[in-house]
Amino acid sequence: MLATQQIVTAIDVGTKKICALIAEINREMEIEIIGVGFMPSNGLRKGIVVDIDMAAESISQAIDKAERMAGIEVGSAFVGIAGSHISSENSHGVVAITGSEKEVKQSDIDRVMEAAQIVPLSQEEEMIHVLPREFIIDGTRGIRHPKGMSGVRLEVETHIVKGSSTSVSNLVKSVRRSGLEVNEIVLDQLASSYAVLSSDERELGVALIDIGGGTTDLIVFHEGNICYTSVLPVGGNHVSNDIAVGLRTPVSEAEKLKILHGAASCDLIEQEEEIEVLKPSGQESRRVNRRYLCRVIEPRMEEIFQLVRQELKKTGSREMTPAGMVITGGASLLEGSCQLASDIMGLPVRRGEPGYVDGFSDIIDNPVYIKKDGRIPKPVFSTGVGLLMYALKNQKLSRSAGRKKRKNKEVVNSFFSKLKSLFDDFF
Ligand SMILES: Nc1ncnc2c1ncn2[C@@H]1O[C@H](COP(=O)(O)OP(=O)(O)OP(=O)(O)O)[C@@H](O)[C@H]1O
Ligand SMILES: [Mg+2]
Repeated sequence: MLATQQIVTAIDVGTKKICALIAEINREMEIEIIGVGFMPSNGLRKGIVVDIDMAAESISQAIDKAERMAGIEVGSAFVGIAGSHISSENSHGVVAITGSEKEVKQSDIDRVMEAAQIVPLSQEEEMIHVLPREFIIDGTRGIRHPKGMSGVRLEVETHIVKGSSTSVSNLVKSVRRSGLEVNEIVLDQLASSYAVLSSDERELGVALIDIGGGTTDLIVFHEGNICYTSVLPVGGNHVSNDIAVGLRTPVSEAEKLKILHGAASCDLIEQEEEIEVLKPSGQESRRVNRRYLCRVIEPRMEEIFQLVRQELKKTGSREMTPAGMVITGGASLLEGSCQLASDIMGLPVRRGEPGYVDGFSDIIDNPVYIKKDGRIPKPVFSTGVGLLMYALKNQKLSRSAGRKKRKNKEVVNSFFSKLKSLFDDFF
C-alpha cells in the first residue's frame, strides 16, 4: 500500500492525437483521473516521430491542458510507443538457484531475466520491454511469482520487444523538449491491453488490436501470458485518404464523411441513401450514394483485418485465442467493423473501451475528433488509461510524481473520474 497519494502522468503520442492524462493514485490503489489534454498530433507519421519540434509542440499543448485541468504541474510521464520499427520475439533464460537453502531470491530472478535478454540486437535496435511470461522451477511450468519457492533450477520464458534506437530516441527527445522526463516507454498495445481486456480473456487466449490513425497494433495473450506483439503501418488515416481519392474530396471532408456516414461493409447501407460530398475546390457539393462511400472504405478495412489474420496465422496464434478478438482505437468505431473483423477472422469480436471515462469524455475540449454524438469516443482513451494502469500494476509510481506546484486550476469540480484499479485483476 502506498504511503501517500502519488501523481502519475501518461502520454499517448498517437498519429492522430496526443492524449495526456494526469491521475492521482490514492491509498486504496485507485486511479483518479484529474487532468485530461487532447491535441491534434503533428510531426508523426505511422506512429513514428518525424519532426521533433512539431511533436514536442503538440505534446506541450496537451500536457498544458491536462495540467490546467488538474491544477498541478507534472515532471515526468509514461509514454506510449508504436510504429513498424517495433519487433518482438520470445526468449528463454536459465540459471541455477543459489544459496544453501535453495530458495528463489530476487537476485536469482534478476539473473534469469538477464540471461533471457541475450538475444541478437543490431546496432540500430534497442530493447523496449523484457516481459516475463512464465517462470519454470525444476520443470514445473506456469509460475508467476517464483520468489521464495524451493528448487535448484530456475528458468524464465520472456517476450522481448525491440525497436529502432532512433525512433525511441526521437520520441524521448520530443517529450523532453516539452519539459517532461520519461518514466518509461511502453508499447501502445501492451498499455491498451491493461485498459480493455479482462483477466478471463487473457487466461483463455485473446487477440487485441488497437486500430489508430496510422498504425494497427496487435497483442496476443494465451494462458495469461503475452505470446505475440506486432505493429502494422496501416490505420484509419488510410481509410480517409482512400475516400479523399475515391470521392474526389478534401481529406478533411473525407474524414467527416467516414465518421458521420461510413461503414466497414456496403451490405449495411440501404440502396437509396444519399449524402452530400464537397468537391475538391471545397466550394460546391454533389450528391453521392452512401453505398458508394462504403464501397471505398470496405477494401481498406478488409485489408487491415486480412493483415492481422496473416500475422496470427504466421505465428500460429489464431488457434490460441478461443476468447476471440477485441478491437479498440479510433478506427474500431467504424460501423460494422466488429462484424467484418469476425467474418474475416472466423472469431468472435467485440469492441473494447476503457471504463470510467464517462465523467469527462463529454466535457473536455475536443479539437481532434469530428463530433458524432458530442463526446470523445472512449476507445481512443485505451492507450492513455492503459499507461496509467501499467504504471500502477508495475508499482512504477515513485519516479512519476508530479511537482505539486499549483497551476491556475480551471473549473473542473464537476469533472471527476474514479477508475477502480484493475490491479488485482491483471495477471
Ligand atoms: N466515430 C468514428 N468512426 C470511424 N473512425 C473514427 C471515429 N472516430 C475516430 N475515428 C478514426 O480513428 C483514427 C484515430 O484513432 P486514434 O485516436 O486511436 O489514433 P492514434 O492513437 O492517434 O493513432 P496511432 O495509434 O495509429 O498512432 C482516425 O483515423 C479517425 O478518423
Ligand atoms: Mg493509438
